[in-house]
Amino acid sequence: RNFIYVEEIDSTNSFLLDRKNGVNESGTVVLAEKQTKGRGRKDRVWYSSKEQNLTFSILLYKEFKLFEHLNLINFSASLAVANSIENLYQLRTELKWPNDVLINKKKICGILLESSSQGNKIDRVVVGIGVNVNQSMFQGQFNYPPTSIRIEFGREVEREKLLAEILNNFEFYLNKISTESNYITREWKEKCRMIGEKIYVKEGDIIKNGIFDDIDNEGFLLLRTKDGIEKITIGDVSIV
Ligand code: BTN
Repeated sequence: RNFIYVEEIDSTNSFLLDRKNGVNESGTVVLAEKQTKGRGRKDRVWYSSKEQNLTFSILLYKEFKLFEHLNLINFSASLAVANSIENLYQLRTELKWPNDVLINKKKICGILLESSSQGNKIDRVVVGIGVNVNQSMFQGQFNYPPTSIRIEFGREVEREKLLAEILNNFEFYLNKISTESNYITREWKEKCRMIGEKIYVKEGDIIKNGIFDDIDNEGFLLLRTKDGIEKITIGDVSIV
């Protein structure tokens, strides 16, 4: 596969989204040691300390069938990271809707999916993944307290091995989107330990309270409120 390695960049997501860079091969991975303008969800800053993390983005180009299921692409990335960490280091992970990976209730990985359209059709989806690997200190803005594999596992780990495992697993799950998409939602639900819990979902100034009832086939959150089931497509989820 096409692999681009850079020491420093503004943001690996921005790089792959920018058509001027001429990268048009689906599956291309850009990995950076350091980002100067790393972005998280909701305009948060994502800080990557040099050589201690995995900071990379994967380009999906003109995969129109997949682009009908953006949330399942999100889930595929989260599952790929979670399973890779479980397999390599025997750590128990947990998924938080829509796409955080947690260990011991702390965030080990953030995922930012962004798309770009030509005309009014999405032709480019970039999946940005930041994994806290060997850090012991954290900077930046957090929606959740951070941790790293090193902290949870007790020693430094090899980033190359983890990256290879994540990329393989991601491909595996992406294939499932067209062949057996309920495989993804089923696995995702098994790893999301919030179902049935009282939660609130915050999007901008709006806060919605309810019970995390389920997720639907497309990976949207179904919130049980006093008025019935509401489908949530965006927001930050927290346990009450
Ligand atoms: C979040 O939890 O808010 C998502 C964080 C996503 C960070 C990754 S690091 C690689 C890619 N490039 C970016 O600028 N952001 C994503």
